[in-house]
Amino acid sequence: MSELLVEGLDAAYGASQVLFGVSLSVERGETLALMGRNGAGKSTTFKAIAGILPPRAGRVMVRGVDVAGQKPYRIARAGIAFVPEDRQVFPEHTVEENLEIGERAGLGGREWNRARAFEIFPMLAPLRNRMAGRLSGGEQQMLTIARSLMGNPSVLLLDEPSEGLAPLIVREIGHLILRLRQLGTTIILAEQNSRFCLGVATSVAVIDRGAIAWRGSVEEFRADPAVQATYLQV
Ligand SMILES: Nc1ncnc2c1ncn2[C@@H]1O[C@H](COP(=O)(O)OP(=O)(O)OP(=O)(O)O)[C@@H](O)[C@H]1O
Ligand SMILES: [Mg+2]
Repeated sequence: MSELLVEGLDAAYGASQVLFGVSLSVERGETLALMGRNGAGKSTTFKAIAGILPPRAGRVMVRGVDVAGQKPYRIARAGIAFVPEDRQVFPEHTVEENLEIGERAGLGGREWNRARAFEIFPMLAPLRNRMAGRLSGGEQQMLTIARSLMGNPSVLLLDEPSEGLAPLIVREIGHLILRLRQLGTTIILAEQNSRFCLGVATSVAVIDRGAIAWRGSVEEFRADPAVQATYLQV
């Protein structure tokens, strides 16, 4: 059974429909890169899955249970952790408190707790008593990802984690995603930066004008320059 199976997802902002029958799935341990140009529908796909923008049609199956259209907190409890583009930390709480807020045993297991987070995200350990609002952008991104893992999700949805960060930090986030992949975390990564996501993903889905236009392994993607030329280059 897929960790997450999305079928025929339609979503709209008011009268303007932006997703047209989006279907995708991830298996346990897979890191799927969801690639597409500006405005292709990557973030909207995540918002529709996470219930922030309830879909107009389609199914969102989390380990076989349809959660489409449920409230975001229920979808989170069902095992979907969504890390939006704008890093959301609790600025007036310390790093450790931010992690504590996210702590919850989930369906994905109980392996994540604060001690584990400081082990896998070693750069957060010396900052544990610092206010989250006083972290750098890269540190906030790390904290947001770590906090999402505290809920022991089945699937992590990461929306452009490398956006706006310095190359060195982008590399660190890449290493971290690879580490999470080694630990068996199931991830969907929305990205425009193809170099970044090809370095960390196992498979690729390309979204174009609100519909999935291509799907394959990273190797197949690399071997098919026409896909990049058609859907990704401006
Ligand atoms: N709140 C909103 N209200 C109306 N239209 C929106 C809203 N958010 C996004 N859109 C539109 O929906 C379409 C898909 O946007 P979306 O943010 O999902 O794209 P994206 O692939 O995440 O792009 P980016 O790479 O810029 O983050 C775009 O045409 C966008 O203008
Ligand atoms: Mg986006």
